[in-house]
Amino acid sequence: MIRKELGKIISQKEIAADIYELTIRAELVEDISAPGQFVHIRVSNGMDPLLRRPVSISSFNKKGKQMTLIYRKSGRGTSLIAEMEPGMEIDILGPLGNGFPLDEVSIGETALLVGGGIGIPPLYELSNQLAAKGVHVLHILGFPTESAVFYEQEFSKNGLTIVTTDDGTYGRKGFVTDIIKELGFDCLYTCGPAPMLKAIEQGYPDKKVFLSLEERMGCGIGACFACVCQSGNAASGASYKKVCSDGPVFRAGEVLI
Ligand SMILES: Cc1cc2nc3c(=O)[nH]c(=O)nc-3n(C[C@H](O)[C@H](O)[C@H](O)COP(=O)(O)OP(=O)(O)OC[C@H]3O[C@@H](n4cnc5c(N)ncnc54)[C@H](O)[C@@H]3O)c2cc1C
Ligand code: FES
Repeated sequence: MIRKELGKIISQKEIAADIYELTIRAELVEDISAPGQFVHIRVSNGMDPLLRRPVSISSFNKKGKQMTLIYRKSGRGTSLIAEMEPGMEIDILGPLGNGFPLDEVSIGETALLVGGGIGIPPLYELSNQLAAKGVHVLHILGFPTESAVFYEQEFSKNGLTIVTTDDGTYGRKGFVTDIIKELGFDCLYTCGPAPMLKAIEQGYPDKKVFLSLEERMGCGIGACFACVCQSGNAASGASYKKVCSDGPVFRAGEVLI
């Protein structure tokens, strides 16, 4: 069930340069069905900005009805979210979309989670759930530079975690795609910038790969067509998919990146 409600902000802190961790208590946490789902946040009480901002659920605790989001303060909307303080109410719609499938990898098999920048947050709950299931979890986390690095220790608790930075100021210098070649895996889950997703998809055509896409969104619930992308399988009859309601997670090849 999708709910629109006023959640309560429990905490908000900056965990890296312009990267914020926001914890919210809300009834809709009870309805989260898979890691990789997202919420749509109303950032102002007025008409401007009008559109909600989509942000992934990074982790959640159903018992405490709490979820944590991690977002980058980039434009007007996220700057307004960054000004919100503990105790304030926040207008959220969710949980939205279809998340990562956990049943594609079995106990004892290896899952490789590859995140780029602000695509990393939804992989954290996925890592927690796969590790709890008994899957061997490996992570490659790519950041632009040292000041942008977050959650290295959190991911490390679940398995090997390799950090890369584009400029080499922390971890290994270079792109996450360079490191993938060094690791074996049964299933790969990824979220990040489109060029990274495309390189992964093209590099491993014979492997089980799931990608989470980011598209500009309007309604977030499949009604406005703002987020359509072309289907990768014309034979299926459908020529497009909606990232908000068919995704944001797709099997590699399902949509054209
Ligand atoms: C399913 C999904 C999950 C996301 N999860 C996260 C997350 O966990 N953490 C995080 O930091 N960001 C996430 N994003 C991206 C985030 O929604 C944008 O960074 C944010 O909307 C930017 O808003 P702004 O007003 O600050 O920036 P502006 O650039 O001022 O936004 C202008 C408009 O463009 C849209 N927009 C801008 N960039 C994006 C983008 N990359 N994707 C979609 N819409 C965009 C905004 O919704 C807005 O309508 C996610 C996006 C999607 C689609
Ligand atoms: S955002 Fe409206 S259909 Fe996807």
